[in-house]
Amino acid sequence: MKDLEKLRQEIDDCDKELVAILEKRMGKVLDIMEYKKEKGIPIFHQAREKEILQKVTTYLENPGFSQEIKTIYSQILKASRKVQSRTLFPYHISLIGFMGSGKTTIGKELSKLLAMENIDVDKVIEERMGMTINEIFQNYGETYFRKLEAETVEEMSRYNNIIIFCSGGGIVLNHKNVENLKRNGIVIWLQASPEEIYSRISQENTRPLLKDSMTVEKIQEMLGKREGLYEAAADITVCTDGKTVEEISKEIIEKLMKRLA
Ligand code: S3P
Repeated sequence: MKDLEKLRQEIDDCDKELVAILEKRMGKVLDIMEYKKEKGIPIFHQAREKEILQKVTTYLENPGFSQEIKTIYSQILKASRKVQSRTLFPYHISLIGFMGSGKTTIGKELSKLLAMENIDVDKVIEERMGMTINEIFQNYGETYFRKLEAETVEEMSRYNNIIIFCSGGGIVLNHKNVENLKRNGIVIWLQASPEEIYSRISQENTRPLLKDSMTVEKIQEMLGKREGLYEAAADITVCTDGKTVEEISKEIIEKLMKRLA
């Protein structure tokens, strides 16, 4: 049997080769990204990722490792997405919009596509307080909630890691919040009509501000007061009515790309 030090040396040699190859791979990923950017071809391509995942296991001499290779490759593909999104969009991406406009859902989808961390301001507040948003409104009132919201946005916007930022529908009511979102970020307004919002949230009871009057008219009235603020804060606007999560996310990425042109 070879001695342990010798075997370890062999592993170190493998790692050296692997790192060099991975570095070369990342370089190619960035070359392809530049090419697609120049030609206006969509950058993030899930079908191609699936194809790669299937192909790589066929390169194995020992099929017994196929599960491990798949796991490793999922991480490599995620890292590739991250390296591209970090290069293309080196800032926070903030999602704003009325309740039910899709901020949380689209935030999760973008986070997957761009391999960026997703922070939901309301979730952070709920975790820290150990209470739901409904309970915070009930026990402490809206003014206190707005204070917590402003503090959380201020803190999160200082993150060095680039993140997808989802905030509650009332974030634009305080201009300081908007300043914080815009400091190192692009603000995207997910626009939706009162009817569409109603159809998305009328069965839910997690929105304290609509608790006593979940009607299209009430949504219309609140939206009317906020629309100008969303519009003024937005760098990009995406209408979400009748669109799927995939369509909205694709449109956001396209609009972010257009800003680079
Ligand atoms: C609010 C929206 C909610 C939550 C709170 C207040 C608002 O978030 O922050 O109930 O003023 O519009 P969602 O927009 O995610 O529902």
